[in-house]
Amino acid sequence: MTEAATPKKKIVFSGIQPSGSLTIGNYLGAIKNWVNHQDLYNNVFCIVDMHAITVRQNPADLRRRSLEVAAIYLASGIDPEKSAIFIQSHVPAHAQAAWVLTCNAYMGELSRMTQYKMKTQNKEGEAIEAGLLYYPVLMAADILLYQADYVPVGIDQTQHVELTRDLAIRFNNYYSPTFTVPEVLLMKAGAKIMDLQNPEKKMSKSSDNPNSYIMIMDKPEDIRRKISRAVTDSIGVIKYSDDQPGIQNLINIMSAINGQSPEAIAAQYAAASYKEFKEAVAETIIAELTPVREKVEELMGSGRSELEAILKEGAARADYMAQKTLRKMYKKVGFVPSF
Ligand code: AMP
Ligand code: TRP
Repeated sequence: MTEAATPKKKIVFSGIQPSGSLTIGNYLGAIKNWVNHQDLYNNVFCIVDMHAITVRQNPADLRRRSLEVAAIYLASGIDPEKSAIFIQSHVPAHAQAAWVLTCNAYMGELSRMTQYKMKTQNKEGEAIEAGLLYYPVLMAADILLYQADYVPVGIDQTQHVELTRDLAIRFNNYYSPTFTVPEVLLMKAGAKIMDLQNPEKKMSKSSDNPNSYIMIMDKPEDIRRKISRAVTDSIGVIKYSDDQPGIQNLINIMSAINGQSPEAIAAQYAAASYKEFKEAVAETIIAELTPVREKVEELMGSGRSELEAILKEGAARADYMAQKTLRKMYKKVGFVPSF
């Protein structure tokens, strides 16, 4: 096929914060979906360390985790030939574009973000870091710099992508068309994995109770223990129903891994006890995560220079794309081009 006849692939951008050990929620709600769709798109996957410092981080931990998240992307099947993988702070355009967008964002719309409200509730009178308020503008910069068409994220991030769209449209209208207006690519299976101890709440790496989440790097015995302790109900029969949020969550986890529909899984285990079903769920998770964990351990150890080379190359590709958009932004707002 000639170049002209090749349809241009749409651009996908997404990122994860290296602010804690990644959970199976990150894996099923985000990374696995990126991997499944990477051939369809031109992909840019970022480790958003600049987002992570909106809350205080231990510097040594942040460094280690940033590399570990990169290793997890690779171990999960993101192919550096098909996708640019890089660390956000390695591409200065993110901070530069964020400032220009900040000057076009409103305090009102930022302070209405659900995540901001949640992170600052009960903090009246306390010092609240301004980064928490501006964080969605940095996220908008991440996405808009790459002219992304699609942003695959879990449901909790859709409001931030809506804000990104609003900022893109506002900038395009006020100056002239500059940004692609991105859309959320929401994945159904795994879109929201719930806390194992409180299945009304999203599973999060920031939970205080380690039994609440399964980490991608958890060992098989930890996975078995945490799943066996997962909160269920006293109904005692496996059904896929909102009345049984704990069981529903375990079904969703299994479904997101093996691709069967939740209803088919419920039917298959209709006669099983909760204990038997939990054992099956634990073994499904272990079979999925073990090869990922082993590959991450290798990349963080003997494969470290390979990991660093991939991140260097990814940052160079990302920087090239980002600079193109940043130059346009600077020109439109009236900055003098550098001499
Ligand atoms: P975060 O851990 O908040 O930085 O999220 C990184 C990505 O993982 C985002 O796309 C989230 O929507 C997704 N994610 C995080 N936790 C979950 C969860 N419990 N279920 C599904 N997706 C999640
Ligand atoms: N805010 C996202 C989260 O907490 C992470 C993120 C930062 C992101 N920049 C992004 C996700 C750009 C998608 C696109 O999950």
